[in-house]
Amino acid sequence: MNLRPTDKKMSSSLQGKKIVLGVSGGIAAYKAVELLRLMVREKAEVFVVMSANAGKFITPLTFESLSGNPVYHEVFGEQSSASMPHIRAAENADLLAVAPATAGAIGKMACGLADDALSNLYLAFRGPILMAPAMNDGMYANPAVQENISRMKQRGVEFIDPEEGELACGTVGQGRLAEPARILQAVQTRIGRDEDLKGLRILVTAGPTREPLDPVRYITNPSSGKMGYAVAGQARLRGAKVMLISGPTHLESPNGVKTIRCQQAGEMLALVNEHFPDCDVLVMVAAVGDFAADKVQKEKIKKKGESLDLKLMPTPDILMEVAKTKNRQMVVGFAAESQNVVQSAQEKLTRKNLDLIVANDISAPGIGFQSDSNQVTLIDKAGKIDSLPRLSKREIADILLDRIKDKSEFISEN
Ligand code: CTP
Repeated sequence: MNLRPTDKKMSSSLQGKKIVLGVSGGIAAYKAVELLRLMVREKAEVFVVMSANAGKFITPLTFESLSGNPVYHEVFGEQSSASMPHIRAAENADLLAVAPATAGAIGKMACGLADDALSNLYLAFRGPILMAPAMNDGMYANPAVQENISRMKQRGVEFIDPEEGELACGTVGQGRLAEPARILQAVQTRIGRDEDLKGLRILVTAGPTREPLDPVRYITNPSSGKMGYAVAGQARLRGAKVMLISGPTHLESPNGVKTIRCQQAGEMLALVNEHFPDCDVLVMVAAVGDFAADKVQKEKIKKKGESLDLKLMPTPDILMEVAKTKNRQMVVGFAAESQNVVQSAQEKLTRKNLDLIVANDISAPGIGFQSDSNQVTLIDKAGKIDSLPRLSKREIADILLDRIKDKSEFISEN
C-alpha cells in the first residue's frame, strides 16, 4: 500500500471543481435543475450554458439563482465571449456535462455546427465531455442519431445512456434522461476527488443474506445494502481497487467496482475466503444472517393448520473465520446493536480480532436499515471511541475510509 497521509477534513467529491452544465431544449430540461443542485451540494462551482431552445422550457434565472453564476444563453446579445469573464471560466472548466442532450444538440455537436451558446461552448471546450441524451424513443433509435453518438464517442465523448420508461410524448421506450444521481455519479467518477486511496485493494461485503427454507420461502433481514455500496462506491471514487461481494439487493453496482452477487452466508464465506488473500482491507458491512434451516425442504412446505417446527442451525461467522487468517490485512466489522451499543461492539471487536468496528444502534428510529442516513460510533482496537453525528451513508463511508487510510494506527502487527 502506498497511501498519502490522512486528510481528516470531511470533503465533498467535487470540491474545488468547475463544471459546465449544458442544457438543451427538451422537456427533461427541468431535471437539469436537480442535477445542478446535486453538483452544488458536492461543492462544485457550476456554470450553466443553455441552447437557444432550452429557454422555452426553463429560464436562465432559475439556473442563475441556483448556481450563483451568470448563465450563458445567447451569442448575439448583451453576452459575448469577449466581454464575459464567466464564459472564459466555463471554457476552462474541468468538465462539460450536457443534460439533457436532445437529438438536435447531439446532431449539431457531431457535425461541428455552432449557432447558439451551447454549441459554441461545446466546440471551444477542451476538457472531458459527458452527454446525457433525452428524447423520444424512436428518435433515439434512429440510425442518424446513433451514428452521431458513435462519432462523438470515437472522439472521446462519454454518453450516459437514457433509461427505459414512460416518455413525455406518451410512449414507453428508451429515451428518458438518466436519473440526475446517475449523471452525478458519472461526473464524480470522471473528475471526483483526489485519488487518495490509489494503491489500496479493498474487499467490501454488503446487503443481507438469504437462507432458503423450501423452494418458495427463505429467512432474511431488512438490510438494503446502501451502507456497503456507499463504502465500495466512495473507495472507488477515491482511487482504490474495489471488489464488492453483495447479498441480494436492488442496488446497481457502483461505477468501476467489480461486484459478485450471492445469496447464502455459506456462499459469501467462500467468496470472501477466495478474495481475502488479495486485499489490503476487508470491510464486512453485510448483515449476514445468523441462522439457516437445518434441512432445506425440496418441496414446498404445506400448511396443515397447525404449528410448524423448524430447526435452525448457526451459519458460519464469516468475519471471525477470515480474521483468523489475516496477516498484513486490516479487518473492519460492523455491529448492529439494539442495547449497550458501544460495549457490545467492543466485545465483538475483541472476539472477532478486528482492527476497527462501526457500531450502530438499530433501535433508533429513522436511521440504519433501508435509510439513507445513519448515526454510528467508530471503535478501534486501541480503544479509541468516536461517536459521529447523524450523517448520510456516503459521508460515513468517507470518514471510515479516512480512518482506513490512516492505516498505521489500526493495521495488525500479526
Ligand atoms: N458477521 C459475519 N458472519 C455472520 C454474522 C455476522 O461475518 N454469520 C459480521 C457482520 O458482517 C458484521 C459483524 O460480523 O461485520 C457483526 O455482525 P452483527 O450482526 O452485529 O453481530 P453477530 O456477530 O451476528 O452477533 P449478534 O447477532 O449476536 O449481535
